[in-house]
Amino acid sequence: MSKQFYITTAIDYVNGTPHLGHAYEKVLADVIARTRRSLGDQVFFLTGLDEHGQKVKQAAQAQGLEPQAYCDELAVSWQSLTTRLNLSNNDFVRTSSARHREVVQAILNRLHATGHFYRAEYRGYYSTRQETFLTEKDRRPDGTFDPFYGEVIELVEENYYFRLREHQAWLIDYIESHPDFIEPDYRRNEVLGFLKHNTLEDLCSTRPATRLNWGIPVPFDPAFVTYVWFDALSNYVTIPAALGDPALTAALDQPAHPAGPALWPADVQILGKDILKFHAVYWPIMLKAIGLPLPRKILAHGWWQKDGQRMSKSTGNVVDPIAVIDEWGADAFRYYVVRELDIGPDGNWTDAGFRSRYSAELANGLGNLVNRSLSMLQRYRNGIVPARSQELASEISTAARTAIDQLREYRLQPALLTTWSIVNRANQYVDQTTPFKLAKDPAQTAKLDAVLYNLAECCRILAVLLWPYIPNSAERIYAQLGLAAQPDSFDAAAWGGLEPGHQIAGPQVLFPRKDSPTP
Ligand code: MSP
Repeated sequence: MSKQFYITTAIDYVNGTPHLGHAYEKVLADVIARTRRSLGDQVFFLTGLDEHGQKVKQAAQAQGLEPQAYCDELAVSWQSLTTRLNLSNNDFVRTSSARHREVVQAILNRLHATGHFYRAEYRGYYSTRQETFLTEKDRRPDGTFDPFYGEVIELVEENYYFRLREHQAWLIDYIESHPDFIEPDYRRNEVLGFLKHNTLEDLCSTRPATRLNWGIPVPFDPAFVTYVWFDALSNYVTIPAALGDPALTAALDQPAHPAGPALWPADVQILGKDILKFHAVYWPIMLKAIGLPLPRKILAHGWWQKDGQRMSKSTGNVVDPIAVIDEWGADAFRYYVVRELDIGPDGNWTDAGFRSRYSAELANGLGNLVNRSLSMLQRYRNGIVPARSQELASEISTAARTAIDQLREYRLQPALLTTWSIVNRANQYVDQTTPFKLAKDPAQTAKLDAVLYNLAECCRILAVLLWPYIPNSAERIYAQLGLAAQPDSFDAAAWGGLEPGHQIAGPQVLFPRKDSPTP
């Protein structure tokens, strides 16, 4: 079986409810997954939940629940977010599941057997909130630790350590010789800077079960559980291995499945800038130590603020994606986050900014174009597509090709802008050709036919180009055009796809105009 296009997201901690940041990342991944389907690839899109570790255990305790019961309860709302966002994910990993645990244990056994771990005593500082060990170097000039770390305790304990130092040199070489491995380039430079100016400390990969029992038991020493980050990063291979990916089952001595999908290496792994070090340093080293190839690309996105401030549940300053979707629809949410923020920099959500794009770009831009194009076709030609016309063919085809090329390079926001140039061009074409005037003059029948064909064809091509971003609206445009197929293949972006004589179904409002709320 040939390798599928494999895309992953970070898996979210299940210690709260999803917010804009979590939803944004999943939308980016979904736009890429759908793009690759439109390009003709077979795609596997994985997302899910990170359920082990101290944070989740503490959150469960605060609710008086056992961690598993707590995770089972919260997983329902996280999983329903994937549906509400209209994600096309093929699987959903929960790290407390048996299929994940078994493969993590196989990885640990293999690394242990090949000498990558050693047992040693640790004496020092530990941040429970960030689940990380701290050293004197982490103190601020006034001697305290950053409040980001929460309570810092002193610990003396034994653990298993993963040897990282021997990996530093090849990793630097690899990142330097593969400029596309980490994007954007300023994030790649940060990783290189970190690797060149620090000596990698060996990674403490276990926790004593006496201190923390909510984790995957270490198979070769049941007095320990697996460190949550080691467990979580592994998800990117555990699920493909559990499904029978032949390269992974062979490398990890797992049962082979004759029809297992070929997924690894991932084609793109998308995650936030805050967890880049885990993905660009620890994860490649884990893979190399197991004997597996590295992912082809790590794409790090920026962070959203709300009204210029960090989102925080304690101050109530959060954007709840479900509330936005309830009021405006999933496509409005999906459109806004990709249009507003390119992959890389940080962004700022304001309700006013959201409403303004909804009204100007979705309701008055795309919505109005489709509505008036199909209404005129209905009114002047009884909804029957007239003879083909090439008037806008060359400029629209050029824009469509550019947008598809940009999408291929994961440039989602530039591609959306290119596609929107078609919306703007088509709306301008209506204003320039004034079909409502042409309709009054019998001598202009052929000209009106041409205008109506060009407009309907623009709407159809827009549906194809926009399907990865706003799938529901794109499918509705196709339905209004009376097309039975789905707009899920870029082959259909070629000009001239609408057949003369075809009967459209007729327009329906795509993005209802909303009254501006009182400020
Ligand atoms: N569980 C770890 C990831 C393990 S991946 C093997 C984790 N979880 S998280 O819930 O804290 O974050 C999940 C993802 O959401 C991360 O990629 C993170 O960057 C992203 N975001 C969390 N808050 C965000 C914003 N405010 N804005 C954009 N993305 C943010 O880290």
